[in-house]
Amino acid sequence: MSNDSTFKTFLVAFLLCVVCSILVCLAALVRIDREAYNKQLEIRRTVLAADGYQDKIAAGGDIDKLFLDNMERKIVDLETGQYTTAVDVATYDQRAALENPELTVKIPAEFDIAGMGRRAKYAAIYVTKDGDVILPIWGAGMWGQMHGYIALKKDGSTVKGFTFYEHAETPGLGAEVDNPRWKAQWPGKQIYDNSGKLAIKVVKNGKYNPNAPDANSTIDGLAGATVTSIHVKEIVRYWFGEHGYAKFLAELKAKRG
Ligand SMILES: Cc1cc2nc3c(=O)[nH]c(=O)nc-3n(C[C@H](O)[C@H](O)[C@H](O)COP(=O)(O)O)c2cc1C
Repeated sequence: MSNDSTFKTFLVAFLLCVVCSILVCLAALVRIDREAYNKQLEIRRTVLAADGYQDKIAAGGDIDKLFLDNMERKIVDLETGQYTTAVDVATYDQRAALENPELTVKIPAEFDIAGMGRRAKYAAIYVTKDGDVILPIWGAGMWGQMHGYIALKKDGSTVKGFTFYEHAETPGLGAEVDNPRWKAQWPGKQIYDNSGKLAIKVVKNGKYNPNAPDANSTIDGLAGATVTSIHVKEIVRYWFGEHGYAKFLAELKAKRG
């Protein structure tokens, strides 16, 4: 058969298509892998940042190493406040769980101050070697969902750090939630008062009074962004209220004596 037969022309074209398809598939797989890794890295960075590792990260610390050396992932059943093995700790995705009615519960209207509608039954949290906890929180902002982590000391009330890793607030206004100077207000604040009542709140910018009896549970809101400040307050108060982590944190406090 001559080299320029119709059959050979089609055969070469076909083989070329097969080779190109394989290359495109491989490239896509590498990209998906890379995207998944970058997503995981971002979560690790956020968890570490919430727990006060910003300086070590900024100084070039290896995020994966810092994370693996210091954080243990655990799953909390928010209904009971206990750790659970109902889902696989290594693969459970709390955000993806929202798409699965079996893994979510409807939030009763009287509790739904953060405008979430439903939440996952199980929370994927991180526990440090010292027993401190880093908890995922999310809810409605002014322009879209806000997702972040808040770190608490093992007393279950003292804030170690707070950071959002995703939101759609306006740069210069609501997006100032990312401003390190604003975030610096959070460490040391108390989520609950001495009687165990939910106390943390965000007040309108300029209304914070350092001498008020509740100053250690009060955050000064963002200037020019009262709407976002109110949303942040509601997100935090939902998650530390009865329908969020209150039971888990009461257990944590009780276990630590
Ligand atoms: C285009 C546009 C975007 C805005 N984005 C935000 C925002 O992300 N967060 C926020 O709280 N306020 C935002 N605002 C302002 C709010 O409408 C509101 O005026 C502000 O939250 C009030 O804050 P203040 O009481 O501190 O002035 C935006 C306003 C405009 C016109």
